[in-house]
Amino acid sequence: MSRYRIEGGRRLVGEVTIGGAKNAAVAVIPAVVLSDGPCRIENIPNISDIFVSFDILKALGAQVRMINKTTVEIDPRTICSHVVPHELARNMRASYYFLGSLLGKFGTAKVSLPGGCNFGVRPIDQHLKGFTALGASVPAMIENGMIEATATQLIGNSIYLDVVSVGATINIMLAAVKARGITILENAAKEPHIVDVANFLNAMGADIRGAGTDVIKICGVPHLHGTTYSIIPDQIEAGTFMAIAAATHGDLLIKNVIPKHLESISAKLTEMGAQVEEIDDMVRVTMDGPIKHCNVKTMPHPGFPTDMQPQIAVLLALSDGTSIVTDTVWENRFRYVDELRRMGAQAQVNGKVAVFEGVPMLTGAPVKAYDLRAGAAMVIAGLAAQGITEIDDVHYIERGYEYFIEKLRAVGAEIRRVEIPSPFARRA
Ligand code: EPZ
Repeated sequence: MSRYRIEGGRRLVGEVTIGGAKNAAVAVIPAVVLSDGPCRIENIPNISDIFVSFDILKALGAQVRMINKTTVEIDPRTICSHVVPHELARNMRASYYFLGSLLGKFGTAKVSLPGGCNFGVRPIDQHLKGFTALGASVPAMIENGMIEATATQLIGNSIYLDVVSVGATINIMLAAVKARGITILENAAKEPHIVDVANFLNAMGADIRGAGTDVIKICGVPHLHGTTYSIIPDQIEAGTFMAIAAATHGDLLIKNVIPKHLESISAKLTEMGAQVEEIDDMVRVTMDGPIKHCNVKTMPHPGFPTDMQPQIAVLLALSDGTSIVTDTVWENRFRYVDELRRMGAQAQVNGKVAVFEGVPMLTGAPVKAYDLRAGAAMVIAGLAAQGITEIDDVHYIERGYEYFIEKLRAVGAEIRRVEIPSPFARRA
């Protein structure tokens, strides 16, 4: 069992380099299955979700070879299975992307689906609606926790998503790229990682237009060839470090970003009194005065991202007034508020809404990470708080933040990982 130990109250100053986007990489790697030749993927983030993806590819029979810390070469030509077993799928939520890519390549796919996670049910009805529209047969009942999709021939179709879904948008693209005919996907999600996956598929010879808008047109092609592709920088890792700079009243130069992907985050931090300067592929964030209270409502891109909701809430907990946070995407993404209260935060949660009464300071306490972004929020709170904070269940954090401790220590954070024998881990 690992725990983070943070001695808070220090201004963080210096430079941070952002890694590849987790939510692009966990889709690009399964998408390699669709290729008829080897692919080289660069700017891969060093996070546990990615290594699980590699394990799944190897279990399917693909060759996976790390060229260096951020580059992998994958040869899908030796894939001999179309089944992703539970012991692998349960370790990564996004294992469902193997449904779309195996179905799109082989006309058959069987993937065990992990259960819900810590902020509500994670349905995939829109994914299955898309597969069915393309001519796949998907049994109405999930048997033994496995989802199976088969199709003798996938045929392009018009699909209107009932819900703006990142996963469904990507998964339907994966299934449709080699279908016969044209697929029009409407009410599609527009996140930067959607565009990145479409660009990767097009680099392999696909014909996808409109990614990044709410209508994506996919003209099926018979073959996809190998390619070399570099993953975009992680919008949410960048946003997390922007929030860290503001929370610690520090001065961080955050490198390897795409400022346009950060627009809603930069705007919100500016509204809260931070200074955000865009310089080519970098942003510099400082916070000289008090954190100003404001309201936050998460929305699909280009709105304020739900994956930044816990992190920005820590700033609001330390702001000069009352703030209302509404998460329109997930029904229960406020479990971290209980942990913030242990540090002195004043907040009330009612379903999708949390109201924060800003307090002048937080104090260190033993807390836990409920999920990836909630865990990042606890790190931000610990960095800003006076005293010692210890965070349990940090494996959630390390699913999505590469070299997190190393990057924080390099800008002056007093944070380290401590190993604790599991019997002494605090009870839930
Ligand atoms: C992706 O999850 C991200 N994960 C999530 O980030 C992120 O919170 C989410 O998109 C929203 O941006 C990955 O990309 C691996 P959705 P996903 O389908 O695709 C409902 C992180 O921290 N819905 O866009 O699962 C769903 O219940 C993670 O990196 C259906 O109703 O999210 C939710 O209310 C956490 N039916 C809304 O749509 C479906 O078939 C958005 O979900 C699918 C989704």
